[in-house]
Amino acid sequence: MSGDEFGGRVAIVTGGASGIGAAVAEELLARGADVAVFDLNGDSVEGPAFGVSVDVSDRRSVDAGVAAVLERFGRLDVVVNCAGIGAFGTVEDSSDEDWARVLDVNVQGVARVCAAAMPALRESDAAAIVNLTSIAATTGIQQRALYSATKGAVHALTLAMAADHVHDGVRVNAVSPGTTDTPWVQRMVANVADPEAERAAMNARQPTGRLVTPAEVAGAVAYLASPRSASTTGSVVAVDGGFGG
Ligand code: NAI
Repeated sequence: MSGDEFGGRVAIVTGGASGIGAAVAEELLARGADVAVFDLNGDSVEGPAFGVSVDVSDRRSVDAGVAAVLERFGRLDVVVNCAGIGAFGTVEDSSDEDWARVLDVNVQGVARVCAAAMPALRESDAAAIVNLTSIAATTGIQQRALYSATKGAVHALTLAMAADHVHDGVRVNAVSPGTTDTPWVQRMVANVADPEAERAAMNARQPTGRLVTPAEVAGAVAYLASPRSASTTGSVVAVDGGFGG
């Protein structure tokens, strides 16, 4: 890893206040990028990242966030879409309101941020978008109907955007993590009757016997965000400990 691999380049990381997004922000900063973190509580982000309060389900908020980044840094090269929310249950368990809310954040949120960023990305000589999908997009997992549908949509959106923007020089790829040890998963584990047994069962479901780490996901994101992957667009890279294999 080179400390100046992303020197002079500017990245937006949505959902960068927690979990995978925070690890991505840290990785890109360590490789020399200027990083703007878009999150619901972006103003409270500490450290070298530029925190911006953005709700990806609100177009005006997204537009204002991108404008703030351009005002501060004058350019934009990389967008990593990590903001996302979960949903449990079968199709019978999710209301129309649940569908609207989770689609709005997980799918339209990605499209909104990409659309707002696209004019600036077209100006970059090394533009890259990296979306976060999930093994849930390509593997049937119980109690994840709505969530899986949103991640399947992000997978398809990644391929479609890659095709649309290949001649603009904007590469679009995705990373598909397996169960990753983030505050999201830690909250899930904490909410069951026997958290220790739940964690052991979760580890046992992974072919590697353990959860994926946020840093492992961030490493794949950094590769897809960097010109080292200049010939890669429309790809979905699994970081799932062999779960989907
Ligand atoms: P997390 O809950 O730790 O972090 C998600 C971040 O997104 C939070 O900081 C939250 O405030 C932010 N966010 C939520 N709604 C937002 C909105 N409307 N506008 C702006 N920011 C918003 O979650 P984690 O685990 O780091 O997940 C990140 C991404 O990775 C998600 O897209 C998730 O679907 C995906 N993923 C996670 C896996 C896991 O096992 N943790 C596995 C596969 C995919």
